[in-house]
Amino acid sequence: MPRRHLVTSALPYANGPLHLGHIAGAYLPADIYVRYLRRKYGHEHVLHVCGSDEHGAAISMKAIKEGKQPQEIVDTYHAINQKAFKDFGIDFDIYHRTSSELHKETSQAFFLKLYEKGVFEKVTSEQMYDPEAKQFLADRFIMGTCPNCQSDRAYGDQCENCGKALSPTDLINPKSTLSGAAPELKETWHFYLPMGKHSEWIEAFIRDGRLNGEPHHDPSRWRRQVIGQCLSWIEGGLGDRAMTRDLDWGVPVPLEGADGKVMYVWLDAPIGYISATKQWAIDQDNPEVWKKWWQDDDTDLVHFIGKDNIVFHCIIFPILLKTHGEYNLPVNVPANEFLNLEGDKISTSRNHAVWLHEYLEDFPERKDELRYVLTSIAPETKDSEFTWKDYQARVNNELVAILGNFINRVVVLTNKYYGGVIPFESLDPAIEDQFNKSMDAIEAGLGTFKFREALAEAMNLARFGNKYLADNEPWKLQKTDPEAVRKIMFNALNIAAYLADAFEAFLPDTSIKMREMLGIDRVFKGFLDGHEIGPAQLLFTKVEDEVIEAQLEKLNQAKMSNQSAPEARPFKDNIDFEQFMQLDLRVGTITNAEKVKKADKLLQLTVDLGSEVRTIVSGIAQHYQPEDIIGKQVSVVCNLEPRKIRGVQSKGMVLMAEDAEGKLVFVNPDAPFENGAEIR
Ligand code: 2FM
Ligand code: ZN
Repeated sequence: MPRRHLVTSALPYANGPLHLGHIAGAYLPADIYVRYLRRKYGHEHVLHVCGSDEHGAAISMKAIKEGKQPQEIVDTYHAINQKAFKDFGIDFDIYHRTSSELHKETSQAFFLKLYEKGVFEKVTSEQMYDPEAKQFLADRFIMGTCPNCQSDRAYGDQCENCGKALSPTDLINPKSTLSGAAPELKETWHFYLPMGKHSEWIEAFIRDGRLNGEPHHDPSRWRRQVIGQCLSWIEGGLGDRAMTRDLDWGVPVPLEGADGKVMYVWLDAPIGYISATKQWAIDQDNPEVWKKWWQDDDTDLVHFIGKDNIVFHCIIFPILLKTHGEYNLPVNVPANEFLNLEGDKISTSRNHAVWLHEYLEDFPERKDELRYVLTSIAPETKDSEFTWKDYQARVNNELVAILGNFINRVVVLTNKYYGGVIPFESLDPAIEDQFNKSMDAIEAGLGTFKFREALAEAMNLARFGNKYLADNEPWKLQKTDPEAVRKIMFNALNIAAYLADAFEAFLPDTSIKMREMLGIDRVFKGFLDGHEIGPAQLLFTKVEDEVIEAQLEKLNQAKMSNQSAPEARPFKDNIDFEQFMQLDLRVGTITNAEKVKKADKLLQLTVDLGSEVRTIVSGIAQHYQPEDIIGKQVSVVCNLEPRKIRGVQSKGMVLMAEDAEGKLVFVNPDAPFENGAEIR
C-alpha cells in the first residue's frame, strides 16, 4: 500500500493579488510535485491543500486605512487569488479560507487543547498603543528613526535600510503609521509560547531528523539553507513568542476574560491547513477522513513555502503540532529563496511585480510557457531573477525551437509519409535506453525537490530527439530508402511519446496536446503500435519583441506612477532655534572610501573637514561605488556622538537625501567650497 502524501502550499494573505514571486516560490513547485506524486502513487494517495490567509494585523490595518471592513478586503482578494490559481491550473484539492466558521472552530479547539495542556504562559507587559486610533500597534505599524543608521523609515520590527532587527522601543521619534500619533506604552497581557523549552527536541528534529528518540525523516533530503536558517535560530536561543494579539480581527481566544484578544495570525494560519483538509473531507461526504491525512503514521506531510516562512513551518508549527499530541510533523519543508524582477526586489507597495492574473490576461494561451520559465529559474538554492528578455529567449530558443519543433516535425512527417498511420517497426533499444535514463533522472529530481534539474533533463530528452532527426535526415532518405525511414520515424514517434511523459508534471497542457496529437492515452506506458495519429497542432509560438517591450513598458509605467505619488512622510515635530544651532554641520571632502567587510550596505569614508580628517561609516554602499565618490564634497554632522559600527569607530554622519524609493544622494554645496565651512 503506497504511503499517503499530504502537500500544503503556504496560504497567501488575502490582502493583495499574487505575483510571479509567489508562484515560483511555493505554488508551482508544489503543483509539479503533486502531479509527480499523483502519477507515481495514484490520485487517491495525494492531497494538496491551500487557501487564503485572511487574518493578521496587515489586513486589519489595510481595512482601517481604506475605511473598509476586513471581511470586505479578504472577500475581494480571496476571489481574485482563487480564480488566478484556477486559471493557471494549480492543482489544489481545496482552496479554503481562514475567515470561515470551520476554521474558527478548528483553531479554537486546537488552542484550547494547548491551553489545557499548559503549553502557554500568561505574561503582562507594556505594548505600543495608538491613543488616537485606540489600538495596540503591531511592530510593523510603528515607524521612526533607526538608532543604528539614522534612516527615518525604520519599522518597529526592522530597519530596511541597514537590516537591523529592532523592537519598537528602539526607534527614535516613533510614530504610528495609522494616525501619525506618537505611540504610548500601555499595559496588556498575552499568552506566550516559551519556545526555549522545546529547543532540545526541535534541534534533534531539524539536525538529525529524529523525533521522540526515533528516526522521523531523512535530513539529508532537506535543503541546506532551510536547516541552516533553523539551526541559526535555535543556536541564537529560542525566546518566548506571543500567541495572542489585541485586535478585533482574527480568531477570538476561546476563554473567559479574553475579550478583544485574538489568536496570533501565525498560530491560526498553519492550522488553516488542517481546517482546509476538514472541509475537503466534508465535501467528499466523508467528514472523518481528514484524520487519516493528519494523524496516520503512513502519511508524509510536506510544506511548500518561501524562505520568509521557514521558522514558522520548521520550528513554531512543529512545536504546536507536537505539543498538541495528535498530529504528524512535516517530513520536509522545501522552502525556496526569493525571485527578483528585472534587477530589483519584487515589491507590492512599489508595484514592482508581474501579477499572475495580469499575465494570464496578457498571455491567455501561454500558461505552460510561464511554468517552463519559472521552473527553469526556480530560486531553489539562491535568489534568482525573472526578466522579460530571458522569458522570451527561453520560450523561443527552447520551447519553440527544440520541443515544439521536434514534435511538429514528427507529426507532420508521419501525416505526410503514412497518411497519419504510425509505421510499426521495432524500437531501437538505444532509444528506449535513453528514455529510461532520462526518466530516472527526472524522477530522481522530482522526488528530491530539484525541479530545475528535473526540467533540464526533460529538455535534454527533447534535444536528443531533435538531434536524432537532424542526424538521420529522413526527409532526404524518403525517396531512396523508405524502409530505413519507417524505422527512423517509428523511433522518432516513440521519443515524442516519451516526451509527453517526461514533461507531464511541468507542462500539463502541452503534455495533453502531445498525447492528443499522437493518439495515446493519458498514462502512456509501453510502445506505440500502428494506430492513426492526429493532425499537427502548434505547441508553442514565438514571443515577439513588441510583446516583451510592452511588458517592460508596463513595469516602467508602474514605477513612474509610483514615483509621482510617493508615500507622504509626516514632518517631524518642531524644534527651537537653540536646538537647531546645537547641530555642527560642515562641508567636507571624501578623500578615501572602501567597503566595510561583511556589511553590504556600509562604506567606510575618510572625510577631510579642514581642521580635522575623520573616519565616518555611511550606509550608502548600495548607491555608490567607493571609487566614484573620492573627491566629492559632502555635508557632515560633526557633533554626533561617535559610535562603533561593525568594529569601525565612526565620528559623525554624512547627510543624504532619500526619495520615496529609498534611493540616496549626497547633499553638497553647489560650487566647490572650503573644507570645514559651517552650514547653517
Ligand atoms: O507569508 C505569507 O504569505 C503567509 N500568509 C503564509 C502563511 S502559511 C501558513 F501558515 F498558513
Ligand atoms: Zn538602520
